[in-house]
Amino acid sequence: MKIAIVGATGLVGTVMLKVIKEQGLANNELLLVASEKSLGKKILFNNKKYTIISINEAIKLKPEIAIFSAGGNTSLKYAPLFAKNGTTVIDNSSAWRMDKDKKLIIPEINANILTKSDKIIANPNCSTIQLLVAIAPLHKKYKINRLIISTYQSITGSGIKAVNQLENERNGISGEKAYPYTIDKNCLPHCDVFLENDYTKEEMKLVNETHKILDKNIKTTATAVRVPVSGGHSESVNLEFENKFEISEIRNILNNSSGVIVQDEPSKNIYPMPITSEGKNEVFVGRIRRDYSIDNGLNMFIVADNLRKGAATNAVQIAKYIIDNKLIGNTKTLV
Ligand code: A2P
Repeated sequence: MKIAIVGATGLVGTVMLKVIKEQGLANNELLLVASEKSLGKKILFNNKKYTIISINEAIKLKPEIAIFSAGGNTSLKYAPLFAKNGTTVIDNSSAWRMDKDKKLIIPEINANILTKSDKIIANPNCSTIQLLVAIAPLHKKYKINRLIISTYQSITGSGIKAVNQLENERNGISGEKAYPYTIDKNCLPHCDVFLENDYTKEEMKLVNETHKILDKNIKTTATAVRVPVSGGHSESVNLEFENKFEISEIRNILNNSSGVIVQDEPSKNIYPMPITSEGKNEVFVGRIRRDYSIDNGLNMFIVADNLRKGAATNAVQIAKYIIDNKLIGNTKTLV
C-alpha cells in the first residue's frame, strides 16, 4: 500500500513519521511530500533514504491514503484532487472540520461512523481531541449539561516559527516572530485569530467541534491561552452533569477508558504536566475533584502532547482504523 505524508518536513509531519513506525505502518510504500522549496531533499527514515516529492507527483501515484499536515490552504486545494483518484485523505488542518459532509473523527469516540465512501476525513483540533477523549466516557454515563474550558497551550501548536521565537528569546537573539508579543515569561490570551464575536478561532473550535463530535446540546465556553511551554497542551476543565456521580466512579470510568491515563495522587504531588506528557500518545487526567459551588459539578486537569494525540497520533490511528476495517480504495461515491 502507498501512504503519502503531505507536510512530511513540518513539526507535525516529523512526528507523524515516528508514529507511523511505532504503529507498524512504516513498511508500506511511503511518499514524503513537502513544498517546492524542499523538493529533492533527502530524509533518512526507518533505515531508508527517502526523497521529498511534490504534491502533484504524489497525486499521480494514487496512494491509498494521504495524511495531510501542510496548512488549510494546501488541504482545500489538493485534498479533493487526491480524493477524486480514490485516495482517502486524513486532514489535520481546520479546512474540512465543520463541513457537514465530512466526518470529524477521534478513534476512541466515533471511528465506527466511517464508511468506504468517506474520502476526506477531518482530524479535530489538538485541544478538542484531548478534551473529548477524557470527557466522552463521562458524558455517556452522566450527561454533561455545561462545559467550561481554560487552556494553557504549547508554542509547538503554532509551528516551527513559534518554536524558534521562544528559543531566540531565551538566547537573546532577535528574529522572526510568530506572536505579536514576547512569549517567554509571558501568557498570551490569544490562540489563533480573533473573530467577530470576540472569541478566538481556537476557542470556537473547542465549542463547535465538541458539538459536532459529542453533543450539540452541551453548553460550552472556552478561553485559550498560549504559554511558554513546549511539551504539550494543558486544560482546566469544569463540567456540570445532569446526573449525580461519585468521585470514585469518575476515577473508575477514566481508568477504564481507552487512551486515558489517570495521574492523580495529590499527597504524592502526582498530576499531569506537559513535561511528562511529551512524546506520549495518551491523554493524562488529574486533579479530579468535586466542584462544590454547583450541583453535580466536577473539575479536572487534562494534558496531552499536542503534536502526538492532538495531531499525528490521532491521524495515524484513523489511518490504521480504515486499513484494519478495509475502508480504503475506490468507491463509486467519490467527493
Ligand atoms: P516545507 O518544509 O517545504 O515548507 P509546519 O506546520 O511545521 O509549518 O509545516 C508545514 C509543512 O507543510 C511542511 O512540511 C511544508 O513543507 C509543507 N507544505 C507547505 N505548503 C505545501 C504545499 N503547497 N505542498 C506540499 N507541502 C507543503
